[in-house]
Amino acid sequence: MGDGIKLPVINGLGRTNRIDNWWSQPLTMGIGLTAAMIYTFWRLFIYTTEGTISYSLDGHHTVMSPIFSPNVLEWDLFGLSSWDHPTWVNAAVLILWIPFGFRGTCYYMRRVYYRTFFASPVACWVDEPEINKKLGYQGEKRLFIFNNLHRYFLYAAMVILLIKWWDVTHAMTFDDGIGLSLGTLVMGIEAFLLTMYVTSCHALRHLAGGMLDRWTTGLSQIRGKLFGQISILNRSHGFWFWTSLTFVFLGDLWVLAVCEGYVNDVALFVI
Ligand code: FES
Repeated sequence: MGDGIKLPVINGLGRTNRIDNWWSQPLTMGIGLTAAMIYTFWRLFIYTTEGTISYSLDGHHTVMSPIFSPNVLEWDLFGLSSWDHPTWVNAAVLILWIPFGFRGTCYYMRRVYYRTFFASPVACWVDEPEINKKLGYQGEKRLFIFNNLHRYFLYAAMVILLIKWWDVTHAMTFDDGIGLSLGTLVMGIEAFLLTMYVTSCHALRHLAGGMLDRWTTGLSQIRGKLFGQISILNRSHGFWFWTSLTFVFLGDLWVLAVCEGYVNDVALFVI
């Protein structure tokens, strides 16, 4: 064995031998995540005008903003619907800890924020700041120990996902029957993208069959096949992460635009 190659070849934050645009991906992702956080804060605490989280074409058909869905404040469960809550409390304030926890502890998300916010490292073969080298790997320690909760956030996210599909059925219910509007499509696409994100999750794959030593007989064979199918979806986990996240905000903008009267939703058909 030789001495091997020492990586990176050039020392110093951001220094590298790479000649491609290695910085473009972490930069784009950093801007995307920062914009998502600012928009969420704005929508939760600043632009909280009553009546901009959902709309209805008639008495039944209800389209919810993905940020505020499920609207737990309408639930009779735990007396939430009759709760005299403070003005800053809304459905998103109560529910967003689940998607935040789920996405924040996601294996793919860890890669994104380690690269974009901690430059640890910012890209392959690109050197990181000296402080990172001094601190060493901080993986699942201190605050990051919460990353170990990912599988539990997965369970909660699956419940949210079911409720989202349930909400889609509400958005398909019109006075005159079952139908589809642009708003129904918005909710349906959001639920679909979230489904793909959840079903391509590493923790779900482990749960399905990864935890077994072998897939030889009976149920374990089925779980092995499930593992294989989830592995195929898992290859695009990053794609589903970004598309589902983006659509949360596009969906909210759509609902906001309809509620404020900038655009009109229309029923495409009702049967
Ligand atoms: Fe990304 Fe589970 S690993 S959602």
